[in-house]
Amino acid sequence: MENPKNPIRRSQAWFGRQDRDGFVHRSWIKNQGYPHDELDGRPVIGICNTWSELTPCNGHFRELAEFVKRGVYEAGGFPLEFPVMSLGETQLRPTAMLFRNLASMDVEESIRGNPIDGVVLLMGCDKTTPSLLMGAASCDLPTIGVSGGPMLNGKFRGKDVGSGTGVWQMSEMVRAGEMTMQEFTSCESDMHRSKGSCMTMGTASTMACMVEALGMSLPENAAFPAADTRRNRLAQMTGRRIVEMVKQDLRMSQILTREAFENAIRINAAIGGSTNAVIHLLAIAGRMGVQLNLDDWDKLGSQVNCLLNLQPSGKYLMEDFCYAGGLPAVQREILSLLHGDALTVNGKSVKENVSEAPCYNREVIKTLDEPFIAAAGIAVVRGNLAPDGAVIKPSAASPHLLTHRGRAVVFVSIEDFHARIDDPELDIDEHCIMVLQNCGPRGYPGMAEVGNMPLPPKVLQKGITDMVRISDARMSGTAYGTVVLHTSPEAAAGGPLALVRNGDIIELNVPERKLHLEVSDEELAVRRAAWVSPEKPARGYYKLYVEHVQQAHLGADLDFLVGKSGAAVPRDSH
Ligand code: FES
Repeated sequence: MENPKNPIRRSQAWFGRQDRDGFVHRSWIKNQGYPHDELDGRPVIGICNTWSELTPCNGHFRELAEFVKRGVYEAGGFPLEFPVMSLGETQLRPTAMLFRNLASMDVEESIRGNPIDGVVLLMGCDKTTPSLLMGAASCDLPTIGVSGGPMLNGKFRGKDVGSGTGVWQMSEMVRAGEMTMQEFTSCESDMHRSKGSCMTMGTASTMACMVEALGMSLPENAAFPAADTRRNRLAQMTGRRIVEMVKQDLRMSQILTREAFENAIRINAAIGGSTNAVIHLLAIAGRMGVQLNLDDWDKLGSQVNCLLNLQPSGKYLMEDFCYAGGLPAVQREILSLLHGDALTVNGKSVKENVSEAPCYNREVIKTLDEPFIAAAGIAVVRGNLAPDGAVIKPSAASPHLLTHRGRAVVFVSIEDFHARIDDPELDIDEHCIMVLQNCGPRGYPGMAEVGNMPLPPKVLQKGITDMVRISDARMSGTAYGTVVLHTSPEAAAGGPLALVRNGDIIELNVPERKLHLEVSDEELAVRRAAWVSPEKPARGYYKLYVEHVQQAHLGADLDFLVGKSGAAVPRDSH
């Protein structure tokens, strides 16, 4: 039903004027062949597209956008597609994360500055989801997300093989002498054989689940493969629905409430989701003005059972998850832990959407009573090594290493790590703790996914596949291991991580949420006095980023982007 309080559409501030500027706004749009009546006051829907051949996971988004347009037209709206900066995880250096906030600025200003009444966000590869949600949240128009969907299962030599996870496993086999480089590279064409994003429960799939869990997409958004025509139908239905949302003036802030974020945190635990979701959800909440902090992840999620037997924590892949029932089946299973009344973009509550959702395969989606892994949500550890916290994903770690005391082997950069890790003379064994410095938001810059450092060959050759690793970096959502990440404050900001030296003893105790460096306060004060801040970038976006990026425990947004400004119509351009 139309909202009578808001009868005038934003787009009419451009197209509804009978003056010189109205002529300009309408006439140039018409050069694309649109008839005059497209501009007669019907809802104008922006389709925010992250298509790029350099973001292969989003390479099918032009086609997807056409299905959204069908739906918009069917519902009486007028769709206008626009591009924004696209971030390809596998190509962009030094790391796509460096540009998440830049892309979010592009999204925010593209929405606010244009004649748009509602927005459909096309999101796929890891960072395109948070950057679009962050930018759109700062505008707070009626908004729906459509994810691009995962690739079909990788198939190599008759077996399923998962994006990322398979790469990490096989490259370790090469380093251990169990696989030749030729065999390894022969998998390249087999692992990624269809359009879509990584088909493990990596960051892209996790974030697609977060979009659905937050109520920001239609149900079943997360799991339909990109190649499945149900994905196109979902896009078309989204096009229809966004027009209704504009008429109802149902804005993002009515969906993205504190309850929605609490639901998402619990779902992240239940799906064995990526640690990257922590940073992204904190940043999105920050834009929306919802109070959410790092400890909420531990408080709300750490005791929630993981139900999904999906890589990297388990065996199966996203295609299997789809056929087993997808996210609604998980939401139904943990409904007692969710805010069932939370509103979603289809105008229904979570409970209304999922209470009858079927599960077709209990090998893939386990029950709450007989979970895949008990109490497996992200844990937050603290101590003199991480005063503002660090995170670990127990479902991807080795249980016997969750309580461990060991000697630090320190690498001051990822280049230092690569230069020394294969050296047979390196003084390291499986009981040591690998420490990586200067890979946080300011340090890298951009907080690269390098926290899951490969093990030294001499350890791998003993058949050992995991060691404790600690850094201020992130890790790929497809990765696994006993890896402590996001240590805050980071080394480059003068955090205690910068003061660790070879031979120091570190204690990790995840059950007690402890990360302790066994060095006296006096000695740490001496080391701190001698610490020299790394050189800062001299110009450009790198300079802006390093000067303004917040620490990981706050979401690593730029400080001046936190919050929202709404979408009031800006002043005239001519
Ligand atoms: Fe794009 Fe994994 S690299 S989703």
